[in-house]
Amino acid sequence: MCGIVGYVGYKPVTDILMDGLEQLEYRGYDSSGIAVMCEKEIRVYKAVGKLQNLREELKGHENEFNSSTMGIGHIRWATHGAPTVLNAHPHTCNCGGLVIVHNGIIENYKELKEELIKTGCIFRSETDTEVVAHLVAKKYDKCKNLTEAVRLASKEIEGAYALCVMHKDCKQKLVITKRNAPLVVGVGINEFYAASDVPAIIKHTNKAVYLNDNQIATLTPEKMELIDADGNKIEPKAEILPWEPVALSKMGYKHFMLKEIHEQPDVIRNILVGKLHAPDENIVLDEVKLTKETLKNLNRIQIIACGTSLHAAMIGKYLIEGFCGIAVDVEASSEYIYRKTVTDEHTLVIGVSQSGETADTLTAIKQSKARGSHILIITNRPDSAMAREADSLIPVNAGIEVSVAATKSYIAQLMAFYLLALYMSEVKESMAKTDLTSLKAELMILPQKIEQILAHKEDIQNVARVYANTKDFIYIARGINYPTALEGALKLKEISYINATGYPAGELKHGPIAMLDDTMPVLSILMNGSVYEKLLSNSEEAKARNARMIALTNSKDEKLSHLFEHIIRVPDVPEIFSPIIAMIPLQLIAYYIAEFLGKDVDQPRNLAKSVTVE
Ligand code: F6R
Repeated sequence: MCGIVGYVGYKPVTDILMDGLEQLEYRGYDSSGIAVMCEKEIRVYKAVGKLQNLREELKGHENEFNSSTMGIGHIRWATHGAPTVLNAHPHTCNCGGLVIVHNGIIENYKELKEELIKTGCIFRSETDTEVVAHLVAKKYDKCKNLTEAVRLASKEIEGAYALCVMHKDCKQKLVITKRNAPLVVGVGINEFYAASDVPAIIKHTNKAVYLNDNQIATLTPEKMELIDADGNKIEPKAEILPWEPVALSKMGYKHFMLKEIHEQPDVIRNILVGKLHAPDENIVLDEVKLTKETLKNLNRIQIIACGTSLHAAMIGKYLIEGFCGIAVDVEASSEYIYRKTVTDEHTLVIGVSQSGETADTLTAIKQSKARGSHILIITNRPDSAMAREADSLIPVNAGIEVSVAATKSYIAQLMAFYLLALYMSEVKESMAKTDLTSLKAELMILPQKIEQILAHKEDIQNVARVYANTKDFIYIARGINYPTALEGALKLKEISYINATGYPAGELKHGPIAMLDDTMPVLSILMNGSVYEKLLSNSEEAKARNARMIALTNSKDEKLSHLFEHIIRVPDVPEIFSPIIAMIPLQLIAYYIAEFLGKDVDQPRNLAKSVTVE
């Protein structure tokens, strides 16, 4: 959701900015722009739509910026004001001498704008960001020091921001700062990069400094100077990034989403390394910093998440309650933060987030932390804002996920919950040792079972082709796979824009059944186990209303073909692990339908990979 890049050094800047923005495209955007320091002035170029439009815009202007070695760039996901050229970043002050890009939301922008208008500032856009350009420029006019101007302005700004600022008087200086929004500095030799995320810099350097909230960095080709909000100097701490540039390649797959679906067996293997050696050995989860005594006495857990991560959390509830007998509440972060919630120092609060930056979940975590709860974060980004709030951190190590629709990060989150629930039940001794051993044995062979599904993906593609032109889709399931139905439906609607809904099958007759007729496909997630027969009856009820029935099943029952028009068979697993096995075909169905429809699979419209606004 918005992405910023900046560069100061000795290389031609436009290519670096454009390439950096391309690497951030996965975050979601609807317009873009760059500003480059030219000989006499700063030049700004902007376009609506895909980056290709900005590339077209730059054509013919090469002689203006060919020798430029400093600049900033932005992809914008519209919040305040429509996606237009005027609203696209970079934004400037009245005279165009100061230019900024911004990721986040300025909450007090209306008040600031009123004041700035009184002092003669002329606003050209509807954005919240433009106030920052004017505010910093006002400060600069007085103090003639860009770093100090940014520092003073940030004291007046409320909200979330990552900012990259340049001024025409400072030919080789970028000033950057952040609060509650991601910003990383790439350290090169006689050059520095700034970006919202690592993919924009990893090609150039694997040495990076993460800014903490309210820190301000001044970047020149020779050095990086860091200060805190009060102007005190801080020594920047560089770290080596554990990222491989190859992770950002499609590796021959048509889309990142398909590549990421295929990576899931290895994602499971990776997360098990060092945590589960053999079925008869205990789970090692040193990441959980609660004492065994506290874990034994824990009687309430609150899990908070959004979207796909919320579905992983719902399955986490089944697991923890089922294995450990501890009461678990799950809530969407966006609901959680605006009511009087009851968590305290006796509640374990688990935040689940692929990006670790989701604004709602971050706020919820901070609220609970302030009330004294122990915060356990499950995330794919151990370098994220949420990870920094964690008392216990379980990184799921799925590797970078480029496709906006979460696939492998979801499976990795589920794995984190399996490990956590098994670990807690070992500590609490809430399950028989023999049961634990056989569950762990099954957990270890899940990757091979996923590989079996992927080996027959053409069968799933064939089913997808049949339903590619339907307008609506219903997914039904019961028990632990109800969240799987929700997640399957979410995947389909996100990337194909088909209206898809997941229902707990027992609820069908309480309303949704009215929608069923021979145009409505109903996909039944029919996994062997405690609710198999119940779901079979619910599927019969749907069939009796002429719905087009599809089964996703690990049952070998040949008679199912009387009830279902299409049957997608998956390997058998204990019911408790069926959410993993069932999800793979559902991801593939969504992928193939979107692909048949010619949709932008990796960057669906209106969506962002990292949702940094509430
Ligand atoms: C769906 C998807 C979103 C995210 C949601 C939360 O494919 O990716 O629903 O799950 O925006 O994001 P994170 O997990 O980063 O907190």
